[in-house]
Amino acid sequence: MSLTIDRSLISDRAAAFLDQPAFDLFIDGQWQGARDGQRFATVDPATESVITHVAAAGEADVDRAVRAARRALDEGPWGRMRPAERQRLMLRLADLVEEHAQALAEVESIDSGKSAAMARAVDMALVVDTLRYYAGWATKIEGSTQEASVPYAPGMELVTYTRREPVGVIAAIVPWNFPLLVAAWKLGPALAAGCTVVLKPAEQTPLTALYLARLVQEAGFPAGVLNVLTGDGANAGAPLVRHPLVNKVSFTGSTEVGKLIGHASVDNMTRCTLELGGKSPVIVLDDCDPARAATGAANAIFFNQGQVCCAGSRLYVHRKHFDRVVADVAAIAEAMPLGPGLDPAAQVNPLVSREQMQRVCNYIDIGRQQGAEVVTGGGRALDRGFYVKPTVLANVGPDARVVREEIFGPVLVAMPYDDVDQVAAWANDTPFGLGASIWSNDLGRVHRLIPRLQAGTVWVNCHALLDPAMPFGGLKQSGIGRDLGRAALDAYLETKSAFIAV
Ligand code: NAI
Ligand code: MG
Repeated sequence: MSLTIDRSLISDRAAAFLDQPAFDLFIDGQWQGARDGQRFATVDPATESVITHVAAAGEADVDRAVRAARRALDEGPWGRMRPAERQRLMLRLADLVEEHAQALAEVESIDSGKSAAMARAVDMALVVDTLRYYAGWATKIEGSTQEASVPYAPGMELVTYTRREPVGVIAAIVPWNFPLLVAAWKLGPALAAGCTVVLKPAEQTPLTALYLARLVQEAGFPAGVLNVLTGDGANAGAPLVRHPLVNKVSFTGSTEVGKLIGHASVDNMTRCTLELGGKSPVIVLDDCDPARAATGAANAIFFNQGQVCCAGSRLYVHRKHFDRVVADVAAIAEAMPLGPGLDPAAQVNPLVSREQMQRVCNYIDIGRQQGAEVVTGGGRALDRGFYVKPTVLANVGPDARVVREEIFGPVLVAMPYDDVDQVAAWANDTPFGLGASIWSNDLGRVHRLIPRLQAGTVWVNCHALLDPAMPFGGLKQSGIGRDLGRAALDAYLETKSAFIAV
């Protein structure tokens, strides 16, 4: 473990986990190194020092993991397990995650930069609830019976029904912003449906997926039901998507990679759901209290350093309140204490990587070049750690790149508007369609606006709330399909129709 992590700041469990000399791949219930022996470092974004090294999976490891997942379905006990037993195992796993939540949150914080307190309160709480929610579904998967009326078999008596069957082997490819949480969004419905999983965490944040694999082992899941391949997109992700024995890919990440995965999936007719980028609007109507709007807008963009697919990155405020709300958001940004994720007082934590910090700073510079006014923030903070100052940009035209493109950092663009029709059009004038929030108590206008917004989720007087029962996903370039809720479960099931002539 890196000497730069102060052990007094983390639990014994987290320290013991990080103290392991090496992290292997988890394949077929066994810990094993990459076939070619490759490893890579994972870095603490607060200190820029190496935390530890993990195995870098390649094509041979992908093949081993996918075959193990297939065997677990075809030959192992998993494929024959009663739904109630799957449910029991999932509940046991949820209990273990809950028991280890503090350590998991600390490891997530050290690996990703995010606040450990938030990781505990938000990420890990939702992981537990998501597993429990889907555990419940394991025993509630139902087909249907129909009265047949085949027109060209009038005399034939038929019994017809549908069955829901697991899709098969799932490739779950997840990003670094909510590493374990997004993994749980894939794992929950997959296990409830009776699928098996090969999970590939992002190369920036491999550690909590490995921790989860230990808990899966401890919970007593049969070998091969969950396999974890740490590694990068090109050498582990791409061969996983292409593998002919993978039946469905569930991806969360960039729109660019989502498109590659979509194209590759069609070659094998692999099912695929994609949860991609966003540029979600926060719309403040003129009846809203400006102070409340400012607090809401600041949380919507600065939570997790803006590394949130549904971050409220475009702020539209009625002209009447614009100056006040923007000034208040800037004041909130300036008052947020900066520090590492393990410091409970710090509200501005490092971004995940040097690359992400540079990408975000580059966007701020592009904003400046295209005429934006930097109301507050404006670039990197400190010279050690991947910190970016919470930034508010104003005076930007609708075609500015900072208004159209996903920045994925603590950067807000603020624009005034004059009437609701105009703001509805501007809110929709983006390639993305993930989320939107409306801030108002005018019920009539709120209800009229919700159907007009091109977004998978609309929040009112709140932003980015997630519930395991509420489907989450995007329109347009924000993706295909849904995570969470019953909608996600359906995507891990195939429907088989049976016709029986009696
Ligand atoms: P990315 O899309 O490259 O990475 C996400 C996951 O995809 C990682 O596990 C990565 O290893 C994997 N991957 C990459 N290339 C792959 C390939 N060819 N085949 C299969 N898997 C592959 O995202 P990246 O580069 O880390 O971030 C770039 C931008 O993407 C961010 O600035 C942000 O705008 C967006 N993003 C959006 C996320 C979301 O929650 N919707 C999450 C992460 C990034
Ligand atoms: Mg990438």
